[in-house]
Amino acid sequence: MKYFIGNWKMFGIPASIKIIDRINNFLVRDKKNNKKYKIIIAPPHTLLQDFSNKFKTKKISICAQNCFQKGDFGAYTGFVSAFMIKKIGINHIIIGHSENRASGENDVIIKEKIFTALKNNLNIIFCIGENKNEKRKKLTLRVLKKQITNVLKKNYNLKKIIIAYEPVWSIGTGKVPKLRELQKTAFLLKKFLKSRFGGKYNFKLLYGGSVDNKSIRNFKLIKELDGFLIGGASKSSKKFIDIIRNFYK
Ligand code: 13P
Repeated sequence: MKYFIGNWKMFGIPASIKIIDRINNFLVRDKKNNKKYKIIIAPPHTLLQDFSNKFKTKKISICAQNCFQKGDFGAYTGFVSAFMIKKIGINHIIIGHSENRASGENDVIIKEKIFTALKNNLNIIFCIGENKNEKRKKLTLRVLKKQITNVLKKNYNLKKIIIAYEPVWSIGTGKVPKLRELQKTAFLLKKFLKSRFGGKYNFKLLYGGSVDNKSIRNFKLIKELDGFLIGGASKSSKKFIDIIRNFYK
């Protein structure tokens, strides 16, 4: 099963449901391939309840973009908890996105977020990635391993966790890793996950960073990747659908 996950970030109003409607129409008609992939869209908190109600009976899942790290309810102005997200019928959540890390989320906070998301039985898209400087110093794999080991415990229900590798320097820049480089990183990451968490569970690994209808042609050659986390191109139904089309071409 491949995943195509759209992260809308700070985008979307109620009328933006039409984007997901069009994607859903494509999905329903794509009889040839639609059993091979899963589409998940992450709109902002303001749209979660409405969109999740509308897509309750559809194959597309609606996903949250983040949650607060503590508690079900509490004196945390402006935040929402994993518990509140779960209670409106959401089953997926993105945690650890580099844009949130950039505004102060560290591994300790991310660990708490994963803990509370698991407690509420949410499926987690856990984002990791190196920045430009770390890449230049060839620290990519070391950084990724640290981001994983600082946060994931061996006794977690790992089936609820999908890893999304998003190089920070690639997000929103149009720059993508070289095919060989990404293949190697994906291969070594999966090998590491297996050795650390035991062979029982095959982690799903996504790539994110400037995925569009062109770059997907290369990414699809990497068999280690189980899907994609798509930012900019997920705000347009056409661009998002073209990514899936080109993947299966
Ligand atoms: P872009 O696809 O816009 O580079 O964003 C990737 C991303 O951050 C998805 O979470």
